[in-house]
Amino acid sequence: MEPLEIIRKYYKPGSVAHEFLIKHSEKVALKALDVARRVSALHDVKASPPDMDFIREASMLHDIGMFLTDAPQLGCYGDKPYITHGYLGRQLLEKEGLPRHALVAERHVGVGLTIEDISRQELPLPLKDMTPQTLEEKIISFADKFYSKGKELAKEKTVEEVRESIRRYGEAKLAVFDEWLRFFGY
Ligand SMILES: [Fe+2]
Repeated sequence: MEPLEIIRKYYKPGSVAHEFLIKHSEKVALKALDVARRVSALHDVKASPPDMDFIREASMLHDIGMFLTDAPQLGCYGDKPYITHGYLGRQLLEKEGLPRHALVAERHVGVGLTIEDISRQELPLPLKDMTPQTLEEKIISFADKFYSKGKELAKEKTVEEVRESIRRYGEAKLAVFDEWLRFFGY
């Protein structure tokens, strides 16, 4: 499976949205592969090592739903709120016959959205658990937090910068991220 071929079905090569998506996703993929190598070095994962091919593919596809959202700064002119891009990406990737990649898209937003997050903040999402469950899902969500899709697309945030951005969503979210930091050896 070649992620770029799937992306090309929904994003015109050379368009602003295509540029943002590819550049951001490539950064996330490199970071996620790096994190996966750290996991293998730090923990006994012989029985089930992180799936490197899957991590590369799913990192490239995790934000594919963004074109359906209203995010003109990213060249996206859909009518859905940006927060739904993960959930919409899941639907799209399921239609593409990629249910495992689809779950990465649905579960990568922030450090994951709980049913309580969705209900308390009245997010425009179905009430279901959208938190990363597998090692690969956690690695990709973690890696994604180091890159924004704004002007500073290529710049990797420091751990402290990421922690500050997550703290805005509450101490419970920061605790999840801090647990990932420990597990990934940061
Ligand atoms: Fe992302």
